[in-house]
Amino acid sequence: MALKVALLGCGVVGSEVVRLMNEQSTELAARIGTPLEIGGIAVRRTGRVRDTGLDPELFTTDAMSLVTRPDIDLVVEVIGGIEPARSLILAAVKAGKSVVTANKALLAEDGEVIHDAARDAGVDIYYEASVAGAIPLLRPLRDSLAGDRINRVLGIVNGTTNYILDRMDALGAGFAESLEEAQALGYAESDPTADVEGFDAAAKAAILARLAFHTPVTAADVHREGITEVTAGDIVSAQAMGCVVKLLAICQRSEDGASVGVRVHPVMLPREHPLANVKEAYNAVFVEAESAGRLMFYGAGAGGSPTASAVLGDVVAIARNRRAGTFAADGDDDSVLAVHPMGET
Ligand code: HSE
Repeated sequence: MALKVALLGCGVVGSEVVRLMNEQSTELAARIGTPLEIGGIAVRRTGRVRDTGLDPELFTTDAMSLVTRPDIDLVVEVIGGIEPARSLILAAVKAGKSVVTANKALLAEDGEVIHDAARDAGVDIYYEASVAGAIPLLRPLRDSLAGDRINRVLGIVNGTTNYILDRMDALGAGFAESLEEAQALGYAESDPTADVEGFDAAAKAAILARLAFHTPVTAADVHREGITEVTAGDIVSAQAMGCVVKLLAICQRSEDGASVGVRVHPVMLPREHPLANVKEAYNAVFVEAESAGRLMFYGAGAGGSPTASAVLGDVVAIARNRRAGTFAADGDDDSVLAVHPMGET
């Protein structure tokens, strides 16, 4: 019997997920051991449904009825924002559906409530696309490194600000001019606040820290400073010292191991550091673990196809779990570490 997927949102990422599911249906069915089927797509307005080329019967504006429908196995949430995403995900989980979400803001604000609800219901919640787009990072932190002790996670997790800083470094351009260029190319939004003030990176840092240190962390725990104050003069000074300016998310265990500091701010990095060579809108995350040593994860952190790849990977993983009658909850994190915004440098 097919596994039925409900999709919440059909914008750039959602429509790419549908396209890939249709295009690769035979391969995906073989990989999972059963076909995937789109059971319904919730959208805010059905006006442009015809543009998608999909069966108009699949579309609904009643997302709550869709996520609780008895025949739905798995819900993919790509609408973003806090509400109605939170209510829809909690309703889906309580109705026994597994969930894939790309919603960093929600996970960074209310992750524990959602993870607890999923664990209580015995369903999966996977969210690889919420941090660093296509880069396989969250499941390696949660699964592959589960037997190790992570001491530090350092990352460029916002492509827009990396693009702006890269242009400032390469051309000697100012912040405003580089932001305009990023907006013209579609990297930065017309309201760039979430990116340039570091809110987006802070939400991602909270998600990374929670997974790395097995401790609840929210965006409010993260010290945040964006790149709006970085001047062309700062870039020149960094260059004179053999450095490059990068906006980093830094999640760090204290030396005594009893606490964790999480922060996002511009950093002068020596040019020989692996993160210093991350150009344009790419993302990269550097992990330091006691036994595994230093690991680097690099790739496209945003965009329809890369994000859809991460979403679909989660769909396949969950579909396999459901076929096997199992689920893979995150650990039950009992707040073992104190979390504070700065941490050691
Ligand atoms: N605005 C984000 C970025 C998109 O620039 O990285 C991906 O989360």
